[in-house]
Amino acid sequence: MSEQPGRKTLVLTGASRGIGHATVKRFSADGWRVITCSRQDFAENCPWPAGPEDHIKIDLSDPEDVGSAVAEIRHRLDREGGQLHALVNNAGISPKTPEGARLNSMETPMHTWRDVFQVNFFAPILLARGLFKELAAARGSVVNVTSIAGSRVHPFAGTAYATSKAALASLTREMAADFGPHGIRVNAIAPGEIETAILSPGTEKIVENIPLRRLGSTDEVAETIFFLCSDASSYVSGSEIHINGGQHV
Ligand SMILES: NC(=O)c1ccc[n+]([C@@H]2O[C@H](COP(=O)([O-])OP(=O)(O)OC[C@H]3O[C@@H](n4cnc5c(N)ncnc54)[C@H](OP(=O)(O)O)[C@@H]3O)[C@@H](O)[C@H]2O)c1
Repeated sequence: MSEQPGRKTLVLTGASRGIGHATVKRFSADGWRVITCSRQDFAENCPWPAGPEDHIKIDLSDPEDVGSAVAEIRHRLDREGGQLHALVNNAGISPKTPEGARLNSMETPMHTWRDVFQVNFFAPILLARGLFKELAAARGSVVNVTSIAGSRVHPFAGTAYATSKAALASLTREMAADFGPHGIRVNAIAPGEIETAILSPGTEKIVENIPLRRLGSTDEVAETIFFLCSDASSYVSGSEIHINGGQHV
């Protein structure tokens, strides 16, 4: 896609499905360039206006792969003035037992725990630090996607997942303190039960007790991410917005 002066750029992980998919559509509709990152190659039948130069194939579970992706993203940003207006760390994994059951703190294999932390926690650090210069140049915004499971034990989400999201929420505060003096805002959003493939059978029982009595939609989550990357939230930093229909009240 040709360079368009004044166009804002977002780097988004996990754009291929669910919340990420809705997010790329929301930002594209507002005229942003969205550089997507996932394990798949660029889809020729891409459902939003983008070319292969706006997609990076990356496996976030491999720290070396993240390092080379950062170099590649910086190279591509350089061609549009070296500015990055937003980084959304959305990709996440939530492994279960082979039977689909919750993995608790007694049973989670250590290699699974490490993989979960690499994708859900270390990759966001590597991306934010690696793209710091470009974020500062644009006085940009970072949004980390945490989870309702990060603050209370969840019946389906496993221990490794929950602790990685709690760590990501804490990292959001730390980064807000460290990046703020450079003009970069850092926030998190913590979705509750959102209608995506990550949900487990049995979620309908939880929904009965959610004050709003329904699942959230990916579009509703994308709208909040968009708010946190826009000037409408220009004094919001270090916060974690809960998008859960009142589930924990
Ligand atoms: N859905 C919910 O109710 C809910 C609730 C709380 C929090 N969240 C959080 O919201 C975020 C998005 O959730 P979702 O439900 O939309 O998830 P999803 O439908 O399972 O999609 C996950 C995305 O992450 C990408 N991904 C996974 N592993 C990756 C890896 N190793 N390298 C690169 N990309 C990887 C996937 O892309 P590829 O497979 O194409 O690589 C996919 O685009 C996650 O962080 C999740 O923890 C969701």
